[in-house]
Amino acid sequence: LIHLLSVEGLPKDILTHILDTASTFVSVSDREVKKVPLLRGKSVFNLFFENSTRTRTTFEIAATRLSADVINLDIARSSASKGESLLDTIANLSAMAADLFVVRHSESGAPYLIAQHVAPHVHVVNAGDGRHSHPTQGLLDMYTIRHYKKDFSNLTVAIVGDVLHSRVARSDIHALTTLGCAEVRVVGPKTLVPGDLKEMGVRVFHSLEEGIKGCDVVIMLRLQNERMSGALLPSSQEYFKRYGLTPERLALAKPDAIVMHPGPINRGVEIDSSVVDGKQSVILPQVTFGIAVRMAVMGIVAHNVREAA
Ligand code: CP
Repeated sequence: LIHLLSVEGLPKDILTHILDTASTFVSVSDREVKKVPLLRGKSVFNLFFENSTRTRTTFEIAATRLSADVINLDIARSSASKGESLLDTIANLSAMAADLFVVRHSESGAPYLIAQHVAPHVHVVNAGDGRHSHPTQGLLDMYTIRHYKKDFSNLTVAIVGDVLHSRVARSDIHALTTLGCAEVRVVGPKTLVPGDLKEMGVRVFHSLEEGIKGCDVVIMLRLQNERMSGALLPSSQEYFKRYGLTPERLALAKPDAIVMHPGPINRGVEIDSSVVDGKQSVILPQVTFGIAVRMAVMGIVAHNVREAA
């Protein structure tokens, strides 16, 4: 693995290797162990062309714990605002001896474009591109599910909400099916569920009550208002009435079901506050596991070098 651009197409053994490697880093990410020298002397450039709280910060922590030098480019104050192109920005940062770019961009495919233009020793990790892919979120979600449920082969997982605009949902679906999850369900209004899901082996539900019945894991998604316009945009109250996860609805899932959410959360829109803060919520552990998972991803890609063309 030279770059991590998507979960799609990654075989089960690579996904499992990343999760197993992450588990070896948990004590470092928890600061029981101070740092490991895996990326000593390497420079990790965080390039977030789209806003982020969790992903950007956990990548920074992860790179620091791997002993890398971390450079966070402030995109709003960068010369991108003067019209410098993405590839010129990358060329200039490469001239500063970058070893690894962590890239978030609102355009699907931007990390791929960068990966095609960097030198053979430079690595690219996708931190979320448009509505296409968010591979490290998918991986940390898998890590979280495996942590609480151990084995994917008996699990029913429901992904609920605005699947149409969600790069997290796509990455989760690919990872869950590759890891052998017994049943992957998608639940949401017809307008927010893409048409190609059945081909991916996913069961589609438009009733939340039906969709979460008997589930082991419920992954809630935010309404991505910034990617919607006009007819697609439901009112928050209407949406909550039909698709908000309340304690009463959660009671339809298995009693030991866990509730996940990639964040940011809109309390009272897709999920009730009492569920966010309730006993079944593992939303904050997801964030913590993200550090170890991102350490694993950077550690693995940074030690593979592709042949120069
Ligand atoms: N889950 C996630 O990607 O959150 P951020 O947008 O805050 O990074």
